Amino acid sequence: AKEISMAVVNKQPETFERARKAVVIGCGFVGSTCAFALMESGVFSEIALVDAHANKAEGEALDIAHGTPFYGPVEVYAGSYADLNTADICIITAGSAQKPGESRLDLVARNVAILRSILHDINQTSFDGILILVSNPVDILTYVAARETGLPAHRVFGTGTILDSARFKSILSSYLDIDPRNVHARIIGEHGDSEFAVWSMANVSGIPLMECFKNKNINNPSQLMTDIEERVRKSAGIIIEKKGATYYGIAASVRRLCEAIMRDEKAVMTVSTMLDGEYGLSDVALSIVSVMGINGIEEHLPAPISEEELAKLRASAQTLKDVIAQVS
Ligand code: LAC
Repeated sequence: AKEISMAVVNKQPETFERARKAVVIGCGFVGSTCAFALMESGVFSEIALVDAHANKAEGEALDIAHGTPFYGPVEVYAGSYADLNTADICIITAGSAQKPGESRLDLVARNVAILRSILHDINQTSFDGILILVSNPVDILTYVAARETGLPAHRVFGTGTILDSARFKSILSSYLDIDPRNVHARIIGEHGDSEFAVWSMANVSGIPLMECFKNKNINNPSQLMTDIEERVRKSAGIIIEKKGATYYGIAASVRRLCEAIMRDEKAVMTVSTMLDGEYGLSDVALSIVSVMGINGIEEHLPAPISEEELAKLRASAQTLKDVIAQVS
């Protein structure tokens, strides 16, 4: 018995290269809900919350940590920028939120200034993981972060139109009476007023959407399609009018994105990414169809969009470039 006990005592603990650790910067409605969703996901062993107001980070961390016995071994705590030295993913949610009637682009001056102070602190650490922008206007913030951190472009991206695509699938599934997970339909471009639906690629398990409309006796869908696209665009505004902010949908989007990354799923998602010639566009960040895995953006997929959709993508890029010119 003595020999066995010595063997156990002398066993060197394994050291894991990756801690499976996330740092959430900003503990407001979005950041704290993201942290809770990440705790539920089980893909991280550590979740550090950072906020300019230490009490807020501590309070949110304690509240979330008290739920972990129902889920599994995950440490949730109030941390600091030093936690980035051992983190896989950093999620930035800090910044002002849209008020009723405000567009996401209206937030640009305030939130670029907040982001730049955060990037300054990140650049003082040895963080070499994946940086996910959530704060709005997410495409502009993604551009600024990609330009102002030394991280490679495939490891700096924003949640982009992941949530818009989810809203799009959800609305379509209600018309088609089909599980939204089987509705393959994307919103691309700006996460904002110039976003648009890629109708030409929409399908249900490979069956063209127009066939599915016909199958439901929706025979002249053009007005319906216009209405659905507008409902997606206005979703956040409607929620903000009713409850003041959105945070559950975006937190679920962040959870899904982190699961795809940490499990190296190679999942197809529309994240906001720096373009480098895709669709003839560059020097702008917006959402196109990408493959997500352990390296962040594994590749952009060459989605064949129509001429009309290409024109919308160029217009969306121009809208963003006009704003980028103001903050560069
Ligand atoms: C929304 C925020 C995340 O669309 O922009 O709900």
